[in-house]
Amino acid sequence: MELQGFPLPDNCPEPGSCIRVERPEPGLVVVVLDPPHRSLAVLDAPLLNDLQQVVHDLAAEKDLKGVVFAGREPLQFAAGADVEGISKLTDRNDALKVVRFVHAIFQQIQDLKATTVAAVGGAVPGGAFELSLSCNYIIAANDPKTRIGLPETQLGIIPGWGGSHRLPRRVGIPGALDAILSGRLYPARAAWKRGMVDRLAYPERLLEIACEVAMGRKKIRRKERGMGKWLVDKNPLMHAIIGNKVRKQVLAKTRGFYPAPLVALDLVLGSLGASPGQMVEREAEAVAELATGSVCKSLVSIFFVSEAAKKYARGHDDFRPRKLQHGAVIGGGVMGGAIASSMAEKGLNMRLIDLSRDALDAALVDHAATLEKKSKRRRLKPHEANAALDRLTVSQEMDGLANAEIVLEAVAERMDVKKSVLQNVAAKVPSNCLLATNTSSLSVTEMAAGLPRPERVVGMHFFNPVRKMPLVEVVRGEATSEEAAIEIAALATRMGKTPVVVKDVAGFLVNRLLGPYLDEAMRLFVAGVDPAHLDQLMLDFGMPMGPLRLLDEVGLDIATHAAQSLHAAYGERMLPCTGIQALSSEKRLGCKTGWGFYRHPKGKKAELSSDLSSFQQEDSARNLSDQEIQDRMVLSMVNEAARCMEEGVTQSVEDLDLATVFGMGFAPFRGGLLRYARSEGFASIVARLEVIANSQDVCNRPGGREKFTPAPWLRENA
Ligand code: NAI
Repeated sequence: MELQGFPLPDNCPEPGSCIRVERPEPGLVVVVLDPPHRSLAVLDAPLLNDLQQVVHDLAAEKDLKGVVFAGREPLQFAAGADVEGISKLTDRNDALKVVRFVHAIFQQIQDLKATTVAAVGGAVPGGAFELSLSCNYIIAANDPKTRIGLPETQLGIIPGWGGSHRLPRRVGIPGALDAILSGRLYPARAAWKRGMVDRLAYPERLLEIACEVAMGRKKIRRKERGMGKWLVDKNPLMHAIIGNKVRKQVLAKTRGFYPAPLVALDLVLGSLGASPGQMVEREAEAVAELATGSVCKSLVSIFFVSEAAKKYARGHDDFRPRKLQHGAVIGGGVMGGAIASSMAEKGLNMRLIDLSRDALDAALVDHAATLEKKSKRRRLKPHEANAALDRLTVSQEMDGLANAEIVLEAVAERMDVKKSVLQNVAAKVPSNCLLATNTSSLSVTEMAAGLPRPERVVGMHFFNPVRKMPLVEVVRGEATSEEAAIEIAALATRMGKTPVVVKDVAGFLVNRLLGPYLDEAMRLFVAGVDPAHLDQLMLDFGMPMGPLRLLDEVGLDIATHAAQSLHAAYGERMLPCTGIQALSSEKRLGCKTGWGFYRHPKGKKAELSSDLSSFQQEDSARNLSDQEIQDRMVLSMVNEAARCMEEGVTQSVEDLDLATVFGMGFAPFRGGLLRYARSEGFASIVARLEVIANSQDVCNRPGGREKFTPAPWLRENA
């Protein structure tokens, strides 16, 4: 029986070529996942078809004692289900067919009379782990590269190839919920401790031990749930308590925008009271519903674009980036200190230079505290934390730069200061040293002018807080070479960030889009919209925080400064709202002063200030509908994004979307700003923009009409 409904990959191989069946001795079969069209096996249509045939044949063999499922190398089992194939599923019935087909294979593996062993290593996510779960035993390679888990909920689906019922049977309900809802990929030892695998083996001996176990010559005890977990699993009252608690946690985190975790919760809770046959159907129905829905499509699209960004960072055949060893950061304030610390953590020997001793001391204290915290939480081994501590040295002099391969400046935001710092640096570093700037508003092209070898000058724009924000804008000035951009992207990837290459325009991408959005929020507030309602509307839209709360985070002084530079660059349409100057002049700058739109008591939740109505000067926006209020804020960004597309600020719509999700937390379930616009229909966006552009209050303000007049790019796409 052939798999129906699962799209085939472009480079589809010959049938029967994806799996090698080896017979090292009588009674033993090793099933090696070894598809010729993939560098790492993926459970796609060709491989699943071959697996089905192989397992079907094995089921008919009489003298079979042991079967081992293995990758072509110990640390290359399989990368899970074919996410691209899943992303192309649009028909519910196709999705149902795929899930049922895979279930039938895995059930047949479970029913084999021989002892079955999965010998896994490297990344073992999702479908790859679910294949293993259908075996009697799982043995994992004890290696830092091994990562095992069920990350499906992160892509908007559920572990639908048996994971939702086989994992709870193996590790108990609480453990399974933990793994499935977090989507975490566990290191080998952690997976073993949790009972997700039965034994660890060094990679070199993985296959040998798996074969010994399969043939019954090596004893192994299947990790069982244990009495305590068994009692929990058998107790309906405990299920209800766990269910309620976890549901609340999930809702608090997802705010109801993501259906998959709740579906997974119900499946896991119901798994122990249902027959395997019932669970197969429930999983199939759930996957069919979720995989064809818009949330899954959006999350998968973000996944693919971020993978493409990482691919860019690997370079191409003619140019591979260096693995940088030595670096320096000039300016050890809020940004520079954290950047230098993160680079040291990732293995670079770092020099941090600042005129101020206090700034350096604060950066060192912060570096040590961060590493200690990570070590306590077992994110770093103690010796790794110690080594990272030693890799950061500081100085008040411009010294220690002779071996530097990258120097990043994060000094005050002034062109003259930055230029003079970079001139000074350029005289001290080797000629192939990258010169990066963390500027958030100055021109990289202008900064590079006059420096020797300006092609190595690149913007490396981190977001605040550095350790948390996943995006780095790699800004290419006019002189910046492709190689320099790739090397900066590679460094960003190494730091665990997602790089997006952007053109050197004012505000680059993210701040250029945030500018009109925050400005519109301020205008709506000044014109009478209730501030709590204003923030709530954007939370309801799916943003991580409301715009007024975000303004407090950014700081009203910084936001004003950013708005002024956007105005200088783009003219009237970016004319800043002056209505909240009264707030800034009272030193209510937001979090940094403890009071802005919100009060920020130390260690407590921020609360909206009760006196805000005194800053509302008009009531022209009081009668706007919720949709109109949301539109004014969101569509101001969409329109600016369209202008960015016209100017080629990013290389693609997908890059722009990725930057909005990772740089401003734009609702991931919407897949990014322009994906949202497309899902609404560009014609509808154009029509709604025109309504705003023609509304009286907008026409009355300088630049209002221009701001909302639909950009040609939108009309072309409408
Ligand atoms: P900061 O004021 O906290 O730190 C700047 C540091 O540079 C200070 O410690 C100062 O002593 C030092 N410094 C100034 N001139 C120097 C010189 N000639 N040589 C050595 N050290 C010098 O500023 P922050 O917030 O860290 O910003 C730094 C850069 O990062 C700016 O370009 C800013 O636009 C950019 N940026 C800031 C973000 C933020 O949210 N704070 C976000 C993204 C970029």
